[in-house]
Amino acid sequence: MRQLRDLGGGSFALEVEGPIPATLPGQFFMLRTERRWPVQLPRPFSLYDCADDGSWGSFLLKVVGEGTRALCDLRPGEGVVLNGPLGQPFPADVDDPVCIAGGVGLAPFLLLARQRARAGERTRLLFGGRNRAALAGIDDFEGVAEVFASTDDGSHGHHGLVTSLLDDLLARSVVKPGETVFCCGPDPMMHAVAKVCEQRGLRCFLSLETYMACGYGVCNGCTVEVQGPRFKGWPYSRTCMEGPVYETCELTELQRH
Ligand SMILES: Cc1cc2nc3c(=O)[nH]c(=O)nc-3n(C[C@H](O)[C@H](O)[C@H](O)COP(=O)(O)OP(=O)(O)OC[C@H]3O[C@@H](n4cnc5c(N)ncnc54)[C@H](O)[C@@H]3O)c2cc1C
Ligand code: FES
Repeated sequence: MRQLRDLGGGSFALEVEGPIPATLPGQFFMLRTERRWPVQLPRPFSLYDCADDGSWGSFLLKVVGEGTRALCDLRPGEGVVLNGPLGQPFPADVDDPVCIAGGVGLAPFLLLARQRARAGERTRLLFGGRNRAALAGIDDFEGVAEVFASTDDGSHGHHGLVTSLLDDLLARSVVKPGETVFCCGPDPMMHAVAKVCEQRGLRCFLSLETYMACGYGVCNGCTVEVQGPRFKGWPYSRTCMEGPVYETCELTELQRH
């Protein structure tokens, strides 16, 4: 571990020495500390940022339990064990995705914005939180993305939920029907975004933060109900293998509502 950057609001960027293998936005790594790992299994995290040459990488972490606490208690020089990249990324053939994030769901979008900026492509990011402190990491997007923020209490950016910000940007033609949304965040927020996308004629991909045990397809602990040709008639999918990114029309639970 190189350093732990405090982003405020209980979130940190954990910077680790490379080599970090080539990773696509939406893919994740299983992480644990080399010593004093307090739980049985490693935990999944999206790669947040990475040097061009893979010499270092970082992960956006929020402390919610023992695993994230142990990672955020690391000191410079202590070891982190990484396994990845794992899972399937956001589709690469979307020209100009509208990225929507909540909380640590921000993580895959810095890598995406950075890779697009290197290719001379713009990225629009809609980032919503309860208040300014909940927008941890927003400053890291300076110069790499066009950021539209929203807060429930109006302390920063648009006053209201991120879905209301999306509505506002649609009304102002900053976002247009027919475009594609990439979304990552808490389930209720992703469900609400999926609903607006359906109503407004936007295609939508969600990156699910399901509980995971092994992270590489052997325990079946991360399944979601799915439908569609990608799954060849099988009604369940392992989010660590075919996910974590799914188009909303593939997620059976969303089709029931
Ligand atoms: C593909 C993927 C990418 C992720 N990327 C990130 C990331 O970039 N940054 C980040 O901070 N987190 C990310 N997460 C979530 C992260 O893996 C969990 O927060 C972590 O596993 C919690 O471990 P813990 O030991 O600290 O907490 P635990 O002791 O396992 O849990 C503590 C509390 O958090 C709840 N919890 C734990 N995991 C989840 C979950 N997945 N969904 C809802 N509630 C949960 C538990 O119910 C419990 O109440 C990602 C998850 C997935 C599947
Ligand atoms: S986490 Fe074990 S199969 Fe997905």
